[in-house]
Amino acid sequence: MSLARSAPDVVRSAYAQLAVTDLPKSRWFWVDLLGFHVQYEDATSLYLRGTDELTHHSLVLRQGPLAALEHLAYRVRTPLDVDRAEKFFTELGLPVCRVPAGQGTRGVGDAVRVVDPLGFPVEFFHEIDRAERLIQRYDLHRGAQVARLDHFNICTADIPAAYAHYTSLGFGCSETIEGDEHELYAAWMYRKQTVHDVAFTGGAGPRLHHLGLATHESHQVLRTADILGALHEERYIERGPGRHGVSNAFYLYLRDPDGHRVEIYTSDYYTGDPDHETYRWNVHDDRRRDFWGNAVIESWYKEATPVLDLDGRQQPTIDANLDESAVHVGADGLG
Ligand SMILES: [Fe+2]
Repeated sequence: MSLARSAPDVVRSAYAQLAVTDLPKSRWFWVDLLGFHVQYEDATSLYLRGTDELTHHSLVLRQGPLAALEHLAYRVRTPLDVDRAEKFFTELGLPVCRVPAGQGTRGVGDAVRVVDPLGFPVEFFHEIDRAERLIQRYDLHRGAQVARLDHFNICTADIPAAYAHYTSLGFGCSETIEGDEHELYAAWMYRKQTVHDVAFTGGAGPRLHHLGLATHESHQVLRTADILGALHEERYIERGPGRHGVSNAFYLYLRDPDGHRVEIYTSDYYTGDPDHETYRWNVHDDRRRDFWGNAVIESWYKEATPVLDLDGRQQPTIDANLDESAVHVGADGLG
């Protein structure tokens, strides 16, 4: 994929760092229930990864006063791409902070943190500690048997601006939701060869809509719901199981003890050919958000995680000017 001259070469969505208000409760949810492996922990933080991940972590949970997104992180191809990221965002006139190895997130080397044009705190790094292969340690696999972090889904008030920004970073677009005049309601964009590393849901932003976690098979998605039912903790299930039209993912949405949303999913598809074409859904096609036409509950459209700035203060949000949930769309029953 061709890159703008100064854009860093992004490899993939790599990890998210969340503030949580009750770390032991979060540990129950993410480790005991979902089956994340603990790579490191102390009194105030947890570093977690899935069974297929060979780097130090894909999720960091830190005890904090407010449930929020601290930052999203993308891995870039070389150390030089960290410099490119610093230059790219500095030239855009945005807040940029260099974080030397040892001063930022544990396990991560030299990094740069920025507030991107959409208002999100985002880190770019290349170096990260390697981790032991767990894919065939079946004796350790538990719960949802999370394989890996796959994507970030973010709420932003301006979907076309988000599309333009990620295009300038060299992301391809696998799928969209569009109106009759091709106005853009949502987009799924990728650097690795899957449906997405990041997707945009229209709504007040910047907010984190969900983290997408891949499992290998649909029975692991169903098993997650069954475990929550068996524990009489079904209140953590927000939506699904179901089949997305967009991406073909078989999905289940949960809310963690702080309300951070997570999607457990399987079965998206390969997008790596150079002439891979964008698949466009009409916003009035009820199959786009659920292929079987099941209604999307209002909280899924309206609620999301606030984000912090580089100094740890909560970012104000801007209301959407194009919000899919405000369209009258049959099975959704909203609008
Ligand atoms: Fe997702």
